[in-house]
Amino acid sequence: MSIRFAKRMDAMRPSSIREILKVTSRPDIISFAGGLPAPELFPVNEIRAACDRVIAESGPEALQYATTEGFPPLRALLAAEMAKRGIAAEADDILVTTGSQQGLDLIAKVLLDPGDCVLTENPTYLAAIQIFQSYEAAFAPVPTDDEGIIPEALPELVARHSPKFLYLIPNFQNPTGRTLSASRRKSLYEIAARIGLLVVEDDPYGKLRYTGTDIPSIKSLDAEGRNIYLSTISKTVAPGLRIGWVVAPKSVMGKLVTGKQASDLHSSSLDQRVLHRYFCDYDNAAHVEKIRRAYGERYGVMDAALKECMPDGFSWTHPEGGMFLWVSGPAGVDTLAMLDRAIERKVVFVPGRDFFPDGSGMSFMRLNFSNSSPDRIREGIARLAELCGEGKR
Ligand SMILES: Cc1ncc(COP(=O)(O)O)c(C=O)c1O
Repeated sequence: MSIRFAKRMDAMRPSSIREILKVTSRPDIISFAGGLPAPELFPVNEIRAACDRVIAESGPEALQYATTEGFPPLRALLAAEMAKRGIAAEADDILVTTGSQQGLDLIAKVLLDPGDCVLTENPTYLAAIQIFQSYEAAFAPVPTDDEGIIPEALPELVARHSPKFLYLIPNFQNPTGRTLSASRRKSLYEIAARIGLLVVEDDPYGKLRYTGTDIPSIKSLDAEGRNIYLSTISKTVAPGLRIGWVVAPKSVMGKLVTGKQASDLHSSSLDQRVLHRYFCDYDNAAHVEKIRRAYGERYGVMDAALKECMPDGFSWTHPEGGMFLWVSGPAGVDTLAMLDRAIERKVVFVPGRDFFPDGSGMSFMRLNFSNSSPDRIREGIARLAELCGEGKR
């Protein structure tokens, strides 16, 4: 029987990550591919205790259907977390989502019609590209340099493409690890306000700074409700709980809630209550400190190993936080074509082109440093550097 798939599936490109993940579970493979946190740092015992308490004290409620917006005490805690990040939000301004991935999906669902344009960094988060593609969006990349996107390029792009919104990841961006400077955030906000551009600010990594000083979010500058902000506990507690949140202007919030009702009614009541209990009973700031120290050390090891081993012509970013760095090869290098040989050598990375909405980016690769021990990072980079050296001969 021939199945007639939806037209929107034509626009969705499968990413090479799925293929890569098939081999990353092999213990002999050193993977710099997935965006996985370090599992040995998950607060397993604390989550178990929180879970036990929730089931013992409010089992039936935790297992019942609940409101779409989220568990009210958790929304209140998330609003307090927003205040710490300089963002004025009441509990009512917060929508709890099933990971920030769902937040992005809902934003796309309520804003995008087929053919609508989205402005993005170039490169950008590949699963966001997939979401926007699934709503049949068109893309217009914003010129980008080492400080992130160039805000002065926005007015012309907006005039030409009339985009529904700009999507960006200002802190330790996925995939490049770059951070949008404070002065660019300010000009971006001013320009966006002047030309009426909605900004979607995705911030999963902002708490993972291991060097330098925090930069205020664009949302913290937003007095007029022009910005939608997303964050998640995936990198600061554990991604398996699948809890993220969206802070949106009131006019957008109602639509997001309706969109979420149609998607999943609500995020897991049990997970939300367990997370709330965990936040109340434990010091997650101290836990994040541990993660930051470990990732800072791992980044340092990867950077030093790259310096020691990579052949001439390769360069890479120097992120101040997050989980990734971004390697740029000399002209002619095709990192996708290198992948099979990399797997033979038992090391994997993500080829750059998945992160470019237009499929360019042949000579780049994304390396994750949060999910490997320092020893495996040294060994993996030695294997990778050998391969890069061969490619050049
Ligand atoms: C930029 C970005 N946004 C969103 C997500 C999704 O995170 P979550 O686990 O909260 O769905 C990720 C995950 O890696 C990401 O890198």
